[in-house]
Amino acid sequence: MIIQKTENSRISTFDPNNFSFGNTFIDHMIICEYENGKWGDVKLVPYGPLMFTPAMMGINYGQACFEGMKAYKDKDGQVFLFRPEKNFERINKSAKRLAMPEISEEMFLDGLKALVDIDRDWIPFGEGMSLYIRPLIFATEEALKARVANKYMFAIVATPAKSYYAEPVSVKISDHYSRAANGGVGFAKAAGNYAASFYPTQLAIEEGYEQIIWTDDSTHEYFEESGTMNVFVRINDTIYTPPTSEKILDGVTRDSFIQLAKRRGIEVKVEPVKVKEVIEAQKNGSLKEVWGVGTAVVTTVFQALGYNCEKFPLPRLSDEESYAVMLKNDLVGIQTNLEEDPFGWRVLVDHVLETV
Ligand SMILES: Cc1ncc(COP(=O)(O)O)c(C=O)c1O
Repeated sequence: MIIQKTENSRISTFDPNNFSFGNTFIDHMIICEYENGKWGDVKLVPYGPLMFTPAMMGINYGQACFEGMKAYKDKDGQVFLFRPEKNFERINKSAKRLAMPEISEEMFLDGLKALVDIDRDWIPFGEGMSLYIRPLIFATEEALKARVANKYMFAIVATPAKSYYAEPVSVKISDHYSRAANGGVGFAKAAGNYAASFYPTQLAIEEGYEQIIWTDDSTHEYFEESGTMNVFVRINDTIYTPPTSEKILDGVTRDSFIQLAKRRGIEVKVEPVKVKEVIEAQKNGSLKEVWGVGTAVVTTVFQALGYNCEKFPLPRLSDEESYAVMLKNDLVGIQTNLEEDPFGWRVLVDHVLETV
């Protein structure tokens, strides 16, 4: 790895109690270029703009995918990643589907660890605090030709993330728009998936909802995901979540929730979730909770479901009664080294660059 440390660190301007998530970037970034059929050296360089023209293929034809993951600091200042191998596997699945070159585990993990290590002072410590990390691959070739590009960049950038209380939200069950289709790219973290979701989400917001529950594109009868999260439904004391498929992103948080629920002896059914059955359960009082899970907020609890122009309120459970809250706490405990990690999910980030 080629390391070029910044000579103008901005860390003295960073106030961990007052910063803007998503707009504050750590001192460094990782970049690596693909050309002539192979990836070059991974470079750790000062964070900053790169030179591209509007003829860059990535922004014209959408060959671009990304990951979202976090690093956490414990009370002793140790820094951990959470299941980074899952993000590595997923970025390559996304790249493959978008006909982009895959990256090696070494490029991904070594780049990640070096970046987090060198900028560990940027990771805020405290409840809900973390560093949000964004690995991405995009086509950089300058050509207006609708074909597979010949040049790419793998990059990793990161922004400190803070605790924010996610208020329960109202979600509209989509009866027209779809996030994914059979044979499409729903399982990939393709940048275009997010672009395509903004307009339907705007419409849902205009109707008084905060998010959409995406349903299957052919019948709109089955739950798929919610916003940019996987979705869980609790009927009585059983948890249901749709199986992952080519239309559903294989979320790291989803998988962790399933394992944590099973460890607690909660019955988990990974099976298609029918909209009509959820609405029926709401009507007969057996629907206890519906929530979304993802790296960014961990859990968003839903307070109402919009379906067929009607709003169906959900019970407001106390933290003690809520499986969503209980499992979130279990997960955060492991992520932040407050709890034992029987699954081996935490990965300590060593001081690899101390001597550089
Ligand atoms: C569409 C979509 N579904 C689900 C998730 C949750 O995945 P993860 O738990 O790996 O963050 C995300 C977030 O990354 C997402 O963008």
